This record gives sequence, structure tokens and C-alpha cells, in this order.
Amino acid sequence: MNILVIGSGGREHAIIKKLKENPAAGVIYALPGNAGMAEAVCVPLDPLDPSEVTAFCRDMAIGFCIVTPEDPLAKGLVDVLETEGITCLGPTRAAAAIESSKLFAKRLMQKYRIPTAAWQTFSGKEDALSFLDSCALPIVIKADGLLKGKGVIVADTRGEARSAVRSMVGPFIIEECLVGHEVSVLTLVDGENVVPLLSATDHKRALDEDKGPNTGGMGAVAPSPFYTLEIKHRCMRDVYLPTARAMVKEGIPFRGCLFFGLILTKDGPKVLEYNARFGDPETQAVLALMDSDLLSALQAVTDGTLAADSVSFRAGHACCVVAASGGYPGAFEKGLPIHIEEPLEATVHMAGVANNGEQLVTAGGRVLSVTATGDTLEAARKAAYREMAKVHFDNMHYRRDIGAQALLIGKE
Ligand code: AMP
Ligand code: GLY
Repeated sequence: MNILVIGSGGREHAIIKKLKENPAAGVIYALPGNAGMAEAVCVPLDPLDPSEVTAFCRDMAIGFCIVTPEDPLAKGLVDVLETEGITCLGPTRAAAAIESSKLFAKRLMQKYRIPTAAWQTFSGKEDALSFLDSCALPIVIKADGLLKGKGVIVADTRGEARSAVRSMVGPFIIEECLVGHEVSVLTLVDGENVVPLLSATDHKRALDEDKGPNTGGMGAVAPSPFYTLEIKHRCMRDVYLPTARAMVKEGIPFRGCLFFGLILTKDGPKVLEYNARFGDPETQAVLALMDSDLLSALQAVTDGTLAADSVSFRAGHACCVVAASGGYPGAFEKGLPIHIEEPLEATVHMAGVANNGEQLVTAGGRVLSVTATGDTLEAARKAAYREMAKVHFDNMHYRRDIGAQALLIGKE
């Protein structure tokens, strides 16, 4: 069976490598993919053009399509492909609103009593600004739409909060600032059934010690040491199943990978955000420990036969470190040659790379990631950093403290 993966990042590369393990996987196409995805045939088409994607699926006899990036999901690519009879992993446009509209997500959580930060919404700047005159600090300001993490400001002062509102386009959500460890949990959802994958911890800030601006994610470890079995059960009961059932009740069942961004507060886990897709770089770390076959688990989602034993993970730890272009998430240079000293005892997932006709060069903010596993988190980290030292390009930047905080907790 030929498979199409929509997207071009490290997460898609990890999915493709994992799909390849199943002999039933025929040719794997990546649309648009990137020059470093040796396991896939890259298709230089626009994922936001449903008619081009549909025509390609028909021409290449695609039996299964996986849509991961938020933009094509929010624009309804899955709806179009499914109308054409192409089996798709990913939510419909209406169900993808769980990520594309923060207001939709907050209203859903309120209606179905899913724990989240206390919040209020304001359509205009004036109302929002006057609320800020007397609210408790710190306070969190979010714009409603899909802003790739950039529509969220955690303000410590009234001045910061006000300038956040002035710089954003409403409607706004202003919410309580939650305190606790953040955990990412990817789950497979086929409507009513939810099967969580391993937990993970993302590192969103650009610099060590969580300094610098927010990025798409600079590294991840799996599993998260903060996510105990007890918390997992509580999340299943209070968060995951209620969310899936809420979507069914709303008439827009979610099918695909539902990502729960949680904060483990002293009052229990609360939802920070939902993503309607696999996370990047969490996917690289989580799939590194997956023992079971990915393709059949994803097919169980689309068939509606998902069960707890659809996935299994080995014991141990994974650490994924992202190498970014210096300057990211701000301006950065492209076209810099990438050298990797082979052999590498870790998995490299390519993201912002291109081929200049001679060799692989940088072409994006997050260039690639290196993922290693080990019996302990310490071993996984050590291996990831040892192997990262074999990767070279000018102005290369990576955080040196991926998993460092998790390691401290693990030793407590
Ligand atoms: P989001 O795009 O909603 O995940 O927000 C991006 C980041 O902002 C999250 O990963 C958190 O670190 C932070 N954040 C968002 N909402 C809150 C909140 N209510 N309390 C504390 N931190 C938050
Ligand atoms: N790592 C978080 C995300 O993919 O949005």
C-alpha cells in the first residue's frame, strides 16, 4: 500500500521512518517533504491545495494519507480527501478547531467540565485593557487563532499585559497563569476510544534554562518523569476520555492524533492547549521507544478498531535534541552546508534542509534533530549529545540542557 505523509518536518521524518518498518508499507511519499528524507519520495506540491493533493493521491494509488501540519488540517484537507474516498489519518476541519480556535477549545472544556485555567474572553481591546487594570498577576493573554505558539503571552506586569493586547488581534482569551510542570501527551483517538502514547516534555524556549523566545520546540525527552501512573489514570478519567466524548457529543468526533498540552498543578492536571496532530519534537522522542507497529495502530484509528493493545512501548528513555539555525526563531541565514560524521549512533530526523545540487544545506529554523535512547535518561541524554557533536553547520545552535531538569527530578 502506498502512503502519503503531508508535511516536511522532523516529526514527519520520524513518522516515515517508523512506517517503513512495516513490510506492508509500499512507496512512502512526503508532500512536500524535505531533501533529507531518504526513505520517502518527496512531492513538490502545495499541501494547502486540496485539488492538487487529491489528484496526486488518485494518480499514485495512495491507500493511506497522514496529515500532520496544522494548516492543512485547519483548512479541511482531510474532509476533501475523505470525500474522494482516500483513507486519512487526521481530524476533519470542524474537529481540528480544537487546535485552530482557542476559544472553541476553552468553550468545549467549560461545557464538559474538563480541567483548564480559569478564563474570560473579550472581543475588543478596550474591554480587555480595562480587565487588565485590576486582574491578578502574572496573567496569560492569548489570541484566538492559529498562531503557532506566538499568540500566547505570559505577562508578569500590567505593562506587558497591556502591550500584548495592543499588539494582538482579538478576540482575546485572558486566563489564569497555572503553575506546575508541563507535560505533552500524544494520544490516538478514533472517536470514543483514546489510547495514550508515552508522555514527553518539550523545551519551547530557544535558550538554556528556558530563556529566550518561544520556538516550535528545541528538544524533548520521553517519558516525562513528572507523569506518574496515578496522574496518567487521572488524565484518562478527567481529561482524555471526557474530551473525546465531548467531541462525539458535539457531532464532530475526533479521529487522529490528539495532543494534550498539560500542566500538572497542585490541584491536578489541567489542559493548557490541545493540538490536533502529532507534536514536534515530541514525536521523535516518543516513536523512538515505540515497540509496536505504527501503521497498524494508525489504521486502527481510521477503521475504528483502536484498542489499548494497539500500541506498546519499551522501557527506557529517549532524548531528542534539535539543531537550529543561529538566530531562530528570529532571522537566520540559509544555504549553509551540513556535515555529518558517519556513522552516527543515533537517529537523525531532517527538517529545515535542502539540497543545493551538491550537498545538504540548511533551509529553515529547525534544521534537524538527533534522537538517542538509553536505559536511563542520563544515558539517552549523553548519547544524544555525543552524537550531536558529529553534526556541523555554521551558526548551528542547540540547547545543552534538554532533559536536564527531568534528570534532576528523577534523582530526587
Ligand atoms: P499554548 O500555545 O497555549 O500552549 O501556550 C504556549 C505556552 O505558554 C505553553 O506551553 C505554556 O508554557 C504557556 N502557557 C499557556 N497558557 C498558560 C497558562 N494558563 N498558565 C501558564 N502558562 C501558560
Ligand atoms: N511541540 C509542540 C508542538 O508541536 O506544537
